Amino acid sequence: MKIAVIQGPNLNMLGMRERHIYGPMTLDQIHAQLEASASQNGIELEFFQSNLEGEIIDRIQECMGTVNGILINPAAYTHTSIAIADALKAVALPTVEVHISNIYHREEFRQKSITASASTGVITGFGPFGYHLGLIALTQIISEIHGAQAAANAQTSEEVSAEPTEQE
Ligand code: DQA
Repeated sequence: MKIAVIQGPNLNMLGMRERHIYGPMTLDQIHAQLEASASQNGIELEFFQSNLEGEIIDRIQECMGTVNGILINPAAYTHTSIAIADALKAVALPTVEVHISNIYHREEFRQKSITASASTGVITGFGPFGYHLGLIALTQIISEIHGAQAAANAQTSEEVSAEPTEQE
């Protein structure tokens, strides 16, 4: 199973940036922890961070047919970017949106997520641990989808093999 981890603007500043809100961990440290738990479970992660909306959109588009799901913190674009929401809807992959802080405990302008409308679910307010929670949720959703597809394929092949041939 392959998952794209996409980090939005200013998340490269974690560890230095508003530590009273986001804590002391750097993005590299968060990614190293995620990588450790993912590899134990046979999950491959592809990390990406950009401060540019268009680059994030390009990265989301590249996910189509190359990964099974997306773990994304769109950061400030959460509250503004119809274009990122559209890109997520276009690729239609299982997606979990993560926020380190609880956006509903913060300024009013942060309390609306435009991108959440394109996500399967949102995890907000658990600090960097939210990425782990997001990964657990995402792998569960992807496994369920694979299980349902396998069952549907088995059903179809049973139906095909039960169809009478011309000789019968
Ligand atoms: C954030 C919350 C956003 O409002 C903010 O712009 C960020 C980080 C979070 O992880 O808590 O950059 O997405």
